[in-house]
Amino acid sequence: MLDMVVRNATLPDGRKGIDIGVADGRIRVVDAKVTAPGGRELDAAGQLVTPPFVDAHFHLDATLSYGLPRVNRSGTLLEGIALWGELKPHLTQEALVDRAMAYCDWAVARGLLAIRSHVDVCDPRLLAVEALLHVRDRVRPYLDLQLVAFPQDGLLRSPGAYDNLVRALDMGVDVVGGIPHFERTTAEGAESVRKLCELAAERGLPVDMHCDESDDPHSRHVEVLACETQRLGLQGRVTGSHLTSMHSMDNYYVSKLLPLMAEAGLSAIANPLINITLQGRHDTYPKRRGMTRVPELLAAGVPVAFGHDCVMDPWYSLGSADMLEVAAMGLHVAQMTSQDGMRACFAAVTTTAAQVLGLPDYGLTPGCRADFVLLQAQDPVDALRRRATRLAVVRNGQIVATTPPASTTLHLADRPSAIDFAPPRSGPG
Ligand code: FE2
Repeated sequence: MLDMVVRNATLPDGRKGIDIGVADGRIRVVDAKVTAPGGRELDAAGQLVTPPFVDAHFHLDATLSYGLPRVNRSGTLLEGIALWGELKPHLTQEALVDRAMAYCDWAVARGLLAIRSHVDVCDPRLLAVEALLHVRDRVRPYLDLQLVAFPQDGLLRSPGAYDNLVRALDMGVDVVGGIPHFERTTAEGAESVRKLCELAAERGLPVDMHCDESDDPHSRHVEVLACETQRLGLQGRVTGSHLTSMHSMDNYYVSKLLPLMAEAGLSAIANPLINITLQGRHDTYPKRRGMTRVPELLAAGVPVAFGHDCVMDPWYSLGSADMLEVAAMGLHVAQMTSQDGMRACFAAVTTTAAQVLGLPDYGLTPGCRADFVLLQAQDPVDALRRRATRLAVVRNGQIVATTPPASTTLHLADRPSAIDFAPPRSGPG
């Protein structure tokens, strides 16, 4: 007995005409023709059904605060950090919860059902930690929220940050964060990486650091992160977020660094929308793009996920929880325009991101949780091209969001009246 059958789906791997049978919140069968009786039917009409979108890097404590207490005039990372520092004393738990909950609504509407969010632990009140732990519980039925203890102002540079971070972990935060490039010296940056990796090893937790988010080619904390990962046996549990200095590094050095990262089993997270706007700000021309070396990391065997990082906050004034927008920017900035490249960018906001976050039971195979999204698209590349409408979002076998298909009415003589930006299906020749 099935609770739901999705009919005639196209899957991201290219299989067409597939039915997906769901019972008790799990995918039970994925086959060309599911004949089991009962349950609700959802007609995919040949369109793409994908596992849900995953945002590997976000800041839910700052989101939707754009303009508070003022806008970022220069648009730089450093003014954003200063602005966040101005806002922090005025934060209330109620406002933090309201904004985070509103963003999670946007996320579900966009088929984004898992988010790894950093949470700033430098305010000793830990208001944001309390607020996001509360939000994590509230959204659990429909969204997986992982929290990273993030010492925004520096683990060693900000008084009390280490103790606050430990308290945040004691309260239930899931992942150890860091920001070595923002410490006072390179040596202190390396020391912060060592301390944080040792803390993660003691507690059996993953690590996800903002690492080398800089245009400085000598910002090389990722090599310390790789080294500590191996020393402490943390392989497969450690992620470097941003890694933008790799864009500016000498190629010879990178030829040593990439295998070092792969040996350590590191993962990488790029944040295309933010990296392309915040990096290269001190350049005149030529102006660097700043995003880390995505195709080269992938070729070296390092998984690369994409994150949205920011939406309407001190660092970024735009965004609407659309991971297809993130992936589309990523493929442009990294020039990943081949079919394989575009599919890797789609994976960076779906399957690869789920792998980096260690999400259990994620996917479209029997036994996985029945979480998926019906898109108004023929395949992943078409979804990227059209920023496809999320026709239906399913969580645990229940529909949690629907959006009508995008359609425009044309008023032109001798042309079709309705278009949805699907290419015409013409015959041979
Ligand atoms: Fe970030």
